[in-house]
Amino acid sequence: MSHLDPINEFREDHRKVRDGLLDIIGSLKAKDVTRARVILGKLNTLVGPHFRYEEETLYPALRVFLGEYVDQLLEEHDGVIETARTCARLLEKETLTDKEAEEAAHAARALLVHVSNCDGLAILSERLNSEQLEELGEKFNQARKAGVPLLEWADKIRKKPS
Ligand SMILES: [Fe+2]
Repeated sequence: MSHLDPINEFREDHRKVRDGLLDIIGSLKAKDVTRARVILGKLNTLVGPHFRYEEETLYPALRVFLGEYVDQLLEEHDGVIETARTCARLLEKETLTDKEAEEAAHAARALLVHVSNCDGLAILSERLNSEQLEELGEKFNQARKAGVPLLEWADKIRKKPS
């Protein structure tokens, strides 16, 4: 029996990512690349299990409500992963030009839009039955225990939707 509430935890992750991204945007404004890089590193660790849980467990479960629109969610993840890569690449630099800082902030804002969209799935998840929610909690827990960061998961484990 899992004691993880999949909907609460899902939304709690989103709050952390929202705050982290806003922090990155603020750090870029303050020209503090180091801080932005550290926060992005933490987000990478946090959202790896979240994305994995979504793609392996939550999205398939939501297909009952969303049908073919689940494929759109997967495609949206493709874009998010690409954006996260771009952001990480920029933040590897010691200093950023104004243009690069704006590019990184633009990427962070794009990720913020995804967080906001993704949180909407919570309202659909509420219609799953208690057994399904139990299963979701279990799988979420497993993804967290495995703890693979986002970009590593995307490179090595994620199966690209066909
Ligand atoms: Fe999400």
